[in-house]
Amino acid sequence: MRIAIVNGPNLNLLGEREPAVYGRTTLAELESTVAAYAAERGVETAFFQANGEGAIIDELHRLRRWADGIVINPGAYTHYSYAIRDALASIAVPAIEVHLSDIAKREAFRRISVTADVCVAQIAGLGVASYLRGIDRLIAHAAQTTIADPE
Ligand code: DQA
Repeated sequence: MRIAIVNGPNLNLLGEREPAVYGRTTLAELESTVAAYAAERGVETAFFQANGEGAIIDELHRLRRWADGIVINPGAYTHYSYAIRDALASIAVPAIEVHLSDIAKREAFRRISVTADVCVAQIAGLGVASYLRGIDRLIAHAAQTTIADPE
């Protein structure tokens, strides 16, 4: 199984960006934790981060030919990018939306996700563990799909 982890804008600054909200773990540390967790479960990973909407969309298009599942943290695009929502809906790869912080308990604009309902699930508020639970959900989703559709 191949899972891609896609991080959106400002997540390259993890570790130094608003540490009270997002913690002190850097993106490189987050990625190595997720890679090791997935590898223990026999899952290959690939990581991508971009600050621009178009670059994220291009990557999602590319991943439709590579990934069996996508863990995506669209950052602030979560709250208003219909283009990223459409990209997720356009590809037949199951995605889990993840957030480090609990977006339901922050500013009002963060309570809206325009991307969550084209994803299999949204997991928020667990820090780096949101990504690990995302990997778990995709593994479980793949197992279910295999049972339902034994091709
Ligand atoms: C975030 C939450 C978003 O509201 C914010 O814009 C981010 C990070 C999170 O992981 O908690 O950039 O997606």
